[in-house]
Amino acid sequence: MKLEEIARQTAQSFKQTYGRSPQWIAAAPGRVNLIGEHTDYNDGFVLPMAIERYTIVAAAPNHTNQVQLRSAQGDQPVTLDLAQPLAPFPKGAWANYPAGVVAGFLARGLKPGGLDVMIHSTVPLGGGLSSSAALEVATATMLELATGQTLDPVEKALLCQKAEHDYAGMPCGIMDQFISVMGKANHLLLLDCRTRKTELVPMSDPSVAVLIINTNVKHELTGSEYPTRRKQCEAAAKALDVRSLRDASPELLEQNKSKLDPIVHRRARHVIGEIERTTHAAAGVRAGNWPTVGQLMYASHRALQDDYEVSCQELDAVVAIAQDIGVAGGVFGCRMTGGGFGGCCVALVQAAAVDAISKRIATEYQQRTGIEPTIFVSRPGQGATVLKS
Ligand code: GLA
Repeated sequence: MKLEEIARQTAQSFKQTYGRSPQWIAAAPGRVNLIGEHTDYNDGFVLPMAIERYTIVAAAPNHTNQVQLRSAQGDQPVTLDLAQPLAPFPKGAWANYPAGVVAGFLARGLKPGGLDVMIHSTVPLGGGLSSSAALEVATATMLELATGQTLDPVEKALLCQKAEHDYAGMPCGIMDQFISVMGKANHLLLLDCRTRKTELVPMSDPSVAVLIINTNVKHELTGSEYPTRRKQCEAAAKALDVRSLRDASPELLEQNKSKLDPIVHRRARHVIGEIERTTHAAAGVRAGNWPTVGQLMYASHRALQDDYEVSCQELDAVVAIAQDIGVAGGVFGCRMTGGGFGGCCVALVQAAAVDAISKRIATEYQQRTGIEPTIFVSRPGQGATVLKS
């Protein structure tokens, strides 16, 4: 569905609920990461793109001291009382994302005043495509309109990341919020997570397409696994006597193997290799060398599976099917994308073969797992956008 169409629907829901039209409408996209997984919190590189799936936030002043948050998806409505200090809702509450962003604005002395808000999203929820970052960034973009203050893009992304840390209780890195703020149509974003410098890498070759395959599974261990991985990476950096794994080389890691717990050693091997693979892949995209990019994606998946241990049977099944189809059938590469333990795979494919590839993956995945996947194509989309101001 086109962005303007989702915005129109959101405005309509707003009107039905609040009895008048919204004054502001803002949107922010979900993302898919082509390569560079679990590198952002290790000061490494990532190479995501915004997808053409968005969260839309429509709002208007209500001349009270309260922010009314409603979602067109039928989630429990929530009221934030701006006269009281804000605090997180119980873990898992959807309103933690917008509430954390409102808190970030208030902490900077930016007061939006009372608002009626309606939220709608076409980003699959909990599918590893950063529906949470899309919600945070769309909320922040709406609040920029409501407060009349435009934030610097880096500051805006960091404010949203802090909302996720402090309100949603997820100690994420900076990738998801940065791409949702800074994505550009027809470009990947090469982000140096240490310096926060970004480079837009053009990706407009019409003969290649990015296919997103949602396994439609989410394994429950996600909660504790992510912070555990972060701690293991910190332990590895400490043992190697470097500031972060960004500063370690494969040679340094092997020379110090005996100093590291075997699990920590494998975690570090993934991260160090992945940082290198990501810059190589960016060079491959610049050169239009799709087979090379594809091979790097498979290598990334193997490392995430064996060394980082964040994959799962269903993600592995998709990658195995993609590999069976191979370059001859139009697949350059495929890997899990996002945090892991379910969610989506991303595949780089020949545009002309998209339908045949999607059909084969859907059929074989269902045969192997008994689950129906959801498969769609996305061009690199646009980051946060104002639709009505
Ligand atoms: C989640 C986090 C990101 C990043 C990825 C793994 O999506 O939110 O910051 O760490 O996992 O690459």
